[in-house]
Amino acid sequence: MSDTVTGPLTADSIAGAAYVVAALLFILSLAGLSKHEKARAGVIYGITGMIIALAATIWLTVQDAWGTGAGLTGLVLLVAAVIVGGAIGFWRARVVEMTGMPELIALLHSFVGLAAVLVGWNGHLEAPALSPDLTAIHHAEVFIGVFIGAVTFTGSIVAFLKLSARMKSSPLMLPGKNAINLGALAAFIALTVWYVNDSQLWLLIVVTLLALGLGWHLVASIGGGDMPVVVSMLNSYSGWAAAAAGFLLNNDLLIITGALVGSSGAYLSYIMCKAMNRSFISVIAGGFGIAAPASKGDADQGEHREITAEATAEMLTNASSVVITPGYGMAVAQAQYPVAELAHQLRERGVNVRFGIHPVAGRLPGHMNVLLAEAKVPYDIVLEMDEINDDLGDTSVVLVIGANDTVNPSAAEDPGSPIAGMPVLKVWEAENVIVFKRSMAAGYAGVQNPLFYRDNSQMLFGDAKTRVEDILKAF
Ligand code: TAP
Repeated sequence: MSDTVTGPLTADSIAGAAYVVAALLFILSLAGLSKHEKARAGVIYGITGMIIALAATIWLTVQDAWGTGAGLTGLVLLVAAVIVGGAIGFWRARVVEMTGMPELIALLHSFVGLAAVLVGWNGHLEAPALSPDLTAIHHAEVFIGVFIGAVTFTGSIVAFLKLSARMKSSPLMLPGKNAINLGALAAFIALTVWYVNDSQLWLLIVVTLLALGLGWHLVASIGGGDMPVVVSMLNSYSGWAAAAAGFLLNNDLLIITGALVGSSGAYLSYIMCKAMNRSFISVIAGGFGIAAPASKGDADQGEHREITAEATAEMLTNASSVVITPGYGMAVAQAQYPVAELAHQLRERGVNVRFGIHPVAGRLPGHMNVLLAEAKVPYDIVLEMDEINDDLGDTSVVLVIGANDTVNPSAAEDPGSPIAGMPVLKVWEAENVIVFKRSMAAGYAGVQNPLFYRDNSQMLFGDAKTRVEDILKAF
């Protein structure tokens, strides 16, 4: 016996079906993005899902406009917002440098947070008439949505300022910072209970200000080396903020998509914390329990040695194995094409060439992998840090191309260092290390790097792209 539910095909049911398809495409998109080979397909699934979701939303608004005449203003506003937002997004995506992606993403997260705050406020000001039970749920949704949205908003603004070097990346160490965070959380819980029982506007104002302050403080308290986790954590918060807005707007797609972004962002943060040997709880709680670093590694390190491109070319031709460890400087210099050519030419000469990729090299998860894939470096010679670290001791030459924090021995050897405990590529164990950079400046975390002064290290100063091209010429 089968029960078949039948009914008229309404605009709502058609849009609902489209939302299910869009949600499935988003899941496929996430699955695709987990592998190099399927990443392009993953992006296409995501774009298709978003087009379907937008089309269904516009379709619903059109139906509303035609049916009642009252939705016409909404339709005009919606189309105007899609055109203006789409044009700005298209323009930014076209002009943004790869190195500027993290701060752009942080800024986009702040928009999601702001949108959740506005939706929450709207939910308060235009509260629907509901039964007492549902009213309490509605109030909780408004309050929690505004809180998550506001934390995401200011947290993402601070991340944007830190990533774009408009604000210093070292952690803000306010006295009693853990008590401030815990106090803010306790106040939020108490205010939520109060608001659910008595939804006064001033409570909403207080929680908005509290959350704006908390978001700012949480991210400001986290140091440069831990920023990758912060970016993925804010990604997660923005997902939960969108899900909260979905509950208020009664929009299933927003709830599903928000939950997908929220949970995948949280999982990515967890993976990164594990990779960087950091406590997940401590990072999401704004550096909870982390003491101020005892040293900055700025003690006198001695003399460094320099090498020329020609001498490097000679050393490489005589090497049996070469490992290339790229970092943020390779992205800045856009050196991936000559680096790929260098790897190709060395392999043709019979040298065993591999790449060693640190999980937080660059400024985005997978930043180096994307650049190397763009330059058509074969995937099978691009290895993760854990896959290459044990082989570095048997390597003739390591080329450190614009990497710094990710190859800093003080992470492994100086317990007082701000990056102490973070696993790094142990390049100093190789026979020879050549460091490509423009000066002796510190890396993103602001910590001096003793690698540059080791007996087996030599500095090749200058722009990484120009220097690699010089080596190619010298071959
Ligand atoms: P960094 O520690 O950022 O160091 C990059 C080095 O590249 C700099 O010391 C710089 O030295 C050099 N450089 C810059 N432009 C160059 C150019 N044109 N040619 C040659 N060298 C150039 O790099 P890393 O080892 O990749 O470490 C990444 C850091 O960023 C970590 O601290 C990580 O926690 C943080 N972070 C990562 C992410 C993600 S998700 N990957 C997100 C946010 C923050 P000079 O100025 O002397 O040239």
